[in-house]
Amino acid sequence: MLSISSLLNLAGLVALATSSPTNVKRAPTIYLAGDSTMARGGGGGNSGTDGWGNFFPYSVSLPVVNKAIGGRSARSFTVEGRFNELINLVQPNDIVIIEFGHNDGGSLSSSDNGRTACPGAGSETCQSTYNGQKVTVLTYPAYLINAGKSLTAKGAKVIISSPTPNNPWEGGSFAYSASRFTTYSKSAAQSIGSNAFFVDHGQYTANIFKSLGKAKVDSFFPKDHTHTSPAGADTVSRAFVKGLLCAGGSFLSGSIRNSTGSVEGACI
Ligand SMILES: *[C@@H]1O[C@H](CO)[C@@H](O)[C@H](O)[C@H]1NC(C)=O
Repeated sequence: MLSISSLLNLAGLVALATSSPTNVKRAPTIYLAGDSTMARGGGGGNSGTDGWGNFFPYSVSLPVVNKAIGGRSARSFTVEGRFNELINLVQPNDIVIIEFGHNDGGSLSSSDNGRTACPGAGSETCQSTYNGQKVTVLTYPAYLINAGKSLTAKGAKVIISSPTPNNPWEGGSFAYSASRFTTYSKSAAQSIGSNAFFVDHGQYTANIFKSLGKAKVDSFFPKDHTHTSPAGADTVSRAFVKGLLCAGGSFLSGSIRNSTGSVEGACI
């Protein structure tokens, strides 16, 4: 026999289950856009590497969808429609973390690999030929600003992250200097506006790599100086979280599982 109170509970459950889905508050989703240093499987194949985006979900209480993919640059992520896919997917208050830089350099003058950006920090353009087609190539900041403005126009928040360092111990002693893509990613975040935030992921990671020492950090790079082991990717992910926490969490405030003091490294 059902008691009156369990019948009432049942009625309440039915009311909940039939309430319109628009009344249910949807948790924001975090999307990741980047290259192999962020992607599942890192440098690919059996390289024993992984991307930091695979470890990031452990530090946050929101769902994470890792759309990073090896070999991509801000330009090729754009041209292949991958930013458009995200622009179509995002709902208000979703968060998109964008990190490029490892595949964006190089020169367009001899041959175009489809990834290299036009040199410059602004609206400069380059005429190039890729795959037998005449193409107009934009600067790295322009690709990020275009994507960021479209994403924020949909109500999403954007975090632009500077690229991860190559192994700063590879020369024997520690050496890290930020590439131009760090400067560019910072200025791109500023240009997108108040719904964009910059995390100097490269510097946070470099600082932690410095304190860990050469032997440990060399072990994070089993294949080459760019792609990290799973343990290295975990450290790189925690460096990003530290950068967020040091800024009060930015758009992820309240959704980070860890306290600032519990994460290695110092605020910069
Ligand atoms: C936060 O805590 C989780 C659970 O203990 C852990 O897996 C993750 O690595 C931590 N993140 C950082 C940034 O320390």
